[in-house]
Amino acid sequence: MDRTLMIIKPDAVAKHVIGEILQRVEAEGFIIRQLRMTQLSKEQAEAFYAVHRERSFFGELVAFMTSGPVVPMALERADAVPHLRQFIGATDSTKAAPGTIRREFGTDVQCNAVHASDSPENAAREIEFFFGKSA
Ligand code: RTP
Ligand code: MG
Repeated sequence: MDRTLMIIKPDAVAKHVIGEILQRVEAEGFIIRQLRMTQLSKEQAEAFYAVHRERSFFGELVAFMTSGPVVPMALERADAVPHLRQFIGATDSTKAAPGTIRREFGTDVQCNAVHASDSPENAAREIEFFFGKSA
């Protein structure tokens, strides 16, 4: 079984759809191994999305990710990383396939409800970021 990191982002937390998202994730066969709610500092959000620091949207992304609490979780499933990416849908919620988490719960290219790790290496790094080395 592989692990990946998902974050319910501030827009979805504010819409009160944490429960609905968790229900869909569990129904898809993901096991929730770690879960918590936290408020990211500016420094933490910048570190988490450091790969995007040169992008034009970086400042907006950090402002968005620190605008309210987030719910990170470590999820386990066969092919967890690619399966979750497929399950959440395209980055832009308006272009994500019908039935995906981002299409159902997100709004646009920034407020897209959830994050998912994009490789097993990044999944390990991101799980450690939120849950420490022992996770
Ligand atoms: P994520 O890392 O959050 O799972 O999203 P992703 O891989 O699908 O997309 P990525 O390119 O890594 O972008 C990270 C997050 O930045 C925001 N974004 N804004 N304004 C824009 O053009 C723009 N593009 C991306 C989104 O919140 C995106 O999920
Ligand atoms: Mg990404």
